[in-house]
Amino acid sequence: MYETYFDLKERPFSINPDPRFMFLTAQHQEALAKCQSVIENKMGASAIHGDIGSGKTSLARRLMEIYAFPQNPGEESKYNFALIVHPIYPSAFQLLKEILREFGLVQPRRSLADYLDDFQKFLQVQHDRGKTNILVIDEAQNLKPVHLELIRQFLNFESSTEKFLQIVLFDQNELALKLDQTPALKDRISMFGALTSLTRKDTENLIEFRFQVAGGKSHPFSEEALEAIFKHSQGLPRRICKICDNALIRAYSAELKTIEPEIIETVAEELRLKEPSPPPKPRVGRKKKDA
Ligand SMILES: Nc1ncnc2c1ncn2[C@@H]1O[C@H](COP(=O)(O)OP(=O)(O)O)[C@@H](O)[C@H]1O
Ligand SMILES: [Mg+2]
Repeated sequence: MYETYFDLKERPFSINPDPRFMFLTAQHQEALAKCQSVIENKMGASAIHGDIGSGKTSLARRLMEIYAFPQNPGEESKYNFALIVHPIYPSAFQLLKEILREFGLVQPRRSLADYLDDFQKFLQVQHDRGKTNILVIDEAQNLKPVHLELIRQFLNFESSTEKFLQIVLFDQNELALKLDQTPALKDRISMFGALTSLTRKDTENLIEFRFQVAGGKSHPFSEEALEAIFKHSQGLPRRICKICDNALIRAYSAELKTIEPEIIETVAEELRLKEPSPPPKPRVGRKKKDA
């Protein structure tokens, strides 16, 4: 709609978690490095906490981009990659079934114990063939205690030095509380990371970056408009994108090439971002040695 008006090839602030539009701030980079280090060193599990809209699903997609496809076209991949995006399952059995399906193992009927046994054998055989097995679970705050117990069992599949399955959990901050009540699993998580609000500078860099990925030259937001975007978004990427997308539509309709703070104020009002909302929680990242 406004793409031609602003000399863009596509919409820069679409809220799909498209990895091409991911701007690696220091905190996103650190979280990614933690996940990759656990995966590459076969250390078992990592958990990345973050507020809604802080970039967790984008990171999950980034991991998929790195690991789900062959590194060299035509060659077999060194990784088996499974992604569970919405783990709302009534039982451990259902979750395990879905995980097996993601790894391409389709088994009719059978019990939880049989499934678990098959899964362990699969992971070990793949591991012995030099493959790294990766399971990423997004929205992991939805996991119930029975699911967490299943994940703990996965982490028992190991050699004396390496885990057979590398697990990355992305969750809103509630999982941290659940893990506090599940010390047997919490102790087995090798790395924790956190995504929180962006700084003012990163907010501007993200806007510039996304605008350029969409084919634009330099973004149309004035210094004061950027300040207003930072204030109303509280530095959360999803809110930044929503504000910017709406502001571009407004500017286009009003035939404005530069976006001033008045437009941002109107948009923030429309998006109800001026309603009081709790500030994002502080960073709770910590590092643990492999259990
Ligand atoms: N580091 C980032 N760089 C660019 N855009 C981002 C970044 N993090 C998040 N976004 C954007 O913000 C929106 C919400 O991100 P998402 O990954 O879905 O957050 P979450 O899963 O934490 O709720 C998406 O449009 C995504 O493209
Ligand atoms: Mg998400």
